[in-house]
Amino acid sequence: MNHERSRDLYDRALSVMPGGVNSSVRATQPYPFFVDSGDGAHVIDADGNRYVDYVMGYGPLLYGHDLPEPVQSAIQSHASAGPMYGAPTEVEVELAEFVARHVPSVEMVRFVNSGTEATVSAVRLARGYTERNKIVVMQGGYHGAQESTLVAGDADNPSPSTAGIPHSFAEHTLPVPFNDSEAIRTVFEDHGDDIAAVLVEPILGNKGIVTPVDGYHETLRELCNDYGSLLVFDEVITGFRVGGLQCAQGKFGVTPDLTTFGKIVGGGFPVGAIGGKSNIIEHFTPSGDVFQSGTFSGHPVTMAAGLATLEYAAEHDVYDHINSLAEQLRSGLTDILADRAPEYTVVGTDSMFKTIFTRDGATERGEQCGAGCRQDPNCPNFESCPKTGADVANAETDRWERLFWQEMKDRGVFLTANQFESQFVSYAHTEEDIEKTLEAYAEAL
Ligand SMILES: Cc1ncc(COP(=O)(O)O)c(C=O)c1O
Repeated sequence: MNHERSRDLYDRALSVMPGGVNSSVRATQPYPFFVDSGDGAHVIDADGNRYVDYVMGYGPLLYGHDLPEPVQSAIQSHASAGPMYGAPTEVEVELAEFVARHVPSVEMVRFVNSGTEATVSAVRLARGYTERNKIVVMQGGYHGAQESTLVAGDADNPSPSTAGIPHSFAEHTLPVPFNDSEAIRTVFEDHGDDIAAVLVEPILGNKGIVTPVDGYHETLRELCNDYGSLLVFDEVITGFRVGGLQCAQGKFGVTPDLTTFGKIVGGGFPVGAIGGKSNIIEHFTPSGDVFQSGTFSGHPVTMAAGLATLEYAAEHDVYDHINSLAEQLRSGLTDILADRAPEYTVVGTDSMFKTIFTRDGATERGEQCGAGCRQDPNCPNFESCPKTGADVANAETDRWERLFWQEMKDRGVFLTANQFESQFVSYAHTEEDIEKTLEAYAEAL
């Protein structure tokens, strides 16, 4: 594969953009390929190389790169009517109505412009509503580039996970291990009356893919009820992907107080949203006293793209199709691992998938876990499959980043740049793509 043009573009980019990219995760080793265009489930780079794409924009692209006709025409008609106004439009009401109709916990929605903005606003709202300061987060969870959640360590010793955040901010954040009911019970016993909210991805999607063990979310719900804290599901990744239109909360049957959305709800355009019961959401200005505002919030083109995307999914077999293709992919990967790297673990559900390069996985899988870890206590791999972000971080992360990603790229398969981020199957993928991908995995592993 020739990458001369991508290399030249990277050279230019390094002079004018820090690290040559606008989002850190795009800076793959030794340099990223620059995308020229998308085509169905594929991307074509600046040198004309074609890849089967499982990055899918890091999650927003439910349909791949060719949008269904109704989505395209909704985008075009709203863009050509004049991009935005600074006054409300009908389409934002329609999208809010759609979300409230389908997502169990949502009665009202505030749209913003990114997942980060959604979680920032949700944290402010939770603090304003409860008049408390502390936020519980999961170690290895990700809620965007925001001060309250870029926090490492544990509940006794929280510290900023990046330069630029005062230590005093991190003191209000209590990181706990995902899937550990005892740890969070202890944190509530110690700090319960100060906890404004527990912020959790229903499935860790940025540190491998770690699904909840039976009863974990129910424990969070119970503790939040007992202590008067809000349970916030960050469904920026899982929203309108896991569990279809009812989202992960519908799939798991747990009702959060607030939900943050992003990615798919904007149909491929910049978006975020905070949803929940009216009596909480109405604490946002102008109906309440928690300040929240944005020039681009509820942008008509984004709203139109999001609404048409979700309506199309409601009317077609989108989730059945992508989930069954992903199941095929995960079970094919499980077979390949059994042969090539039995200690590794296939993870994922619905249209999410990943192989975690676990160092000490069992060499057998139970039936339940034959197409991705289900945290099934009867699976022979249950003790060693990842339960927390730390379990994923302890895997062979360098092998993925330095060798495996490049091997897959050279075989025409575009995966997420490191061991941690989820990958996605789209409506545009075909069985042929899945077969080609499995062949590439079998060779590269
Ligand atoms: C769970 C989760 N929350 C929040 C965010 C931040 O969203 P954005 O990148 O749109 O700011 C992300 C981004 O990947 C995410 O995965």
